[in-house]
Amino acid sequence: MKKILALAGSNSSNSINHQLIEYTASLIKDADVKVLDIRSWDIPIYSIDMDPDQTPEKITELITLIQEHDGFIVSSPEHNGGTPAFFKNILDWLSRRAKKVFADKPALLMSTSPGKGGGANHRKFLEHTLPYQGASIAAAYSLPSFQQNMQNGQLEAGELEKLNAVVNELKSKL
Ligand SMILES: Cc1cc2nc3c(=O)[nH]c(=O)nc-3n(C[C@H](O)[C@H](O)[C@H](O)COP(=O)(O)O)c2cc1C
Repeated sequence: MKKILALAGSNSSNSINHQLIEYTASLIKDADVKVLDIRSWDIPIYSIDMDPDQTPEKITELITLIQEHDGFIVSSPEHNGGTPAFFKNILDWLSRRAKKVFADKPALLMSTSPGKGGGANHRKFLEHTLPYQGASIAAAYSLPSFQQNMQNGQLEAGELEKLNAVVNELKSKL
């Protein structure tokens, strides 16, 4: 069975992006999905002064996990129109420790927010930048107005249809 690594780029204990990741993983029965919970990771801010000796253990573990999986689902919050510092820091560490770490493997890129934009502006930025780290963007999806569209753990029907379509797109490229 193909292996998918799924994670949200948030350090919020109530992360709605993490909830979206968990929900998306629950839709997939014909692949082995590992949901990686990085919310409590305490990673020092990358500095070139820490090169080349000091690599956080979690970053080394993440690189190994990425190498062991066939595809990825990433859901990121949007902070002030950009990448949350927590997630950007992890991406910066990855870029310094592994060249094109995603190795041309397919990725489903997602975002959600309480607002109508669903973090789509920032998601488009990640669609542009993650390929520099080797990700092949298979599909993309943003869920707007999370609290209205996800109620009692169930996604609104029209949004569920869109989510299933992008999940199928990812699976077709594994
Ligand atoms: C510093 C900060 C900046 C934010 N900027 C945006 C933004 O630009 N666009 C947006 O849709 N939501 C923005 N939000 C609201 C987030 O979408 C909201 O906090 C969301 O829950 C974050 O996702 P998470 O729960 O997975 O961490 C911002 C929140 C914070 C704390």
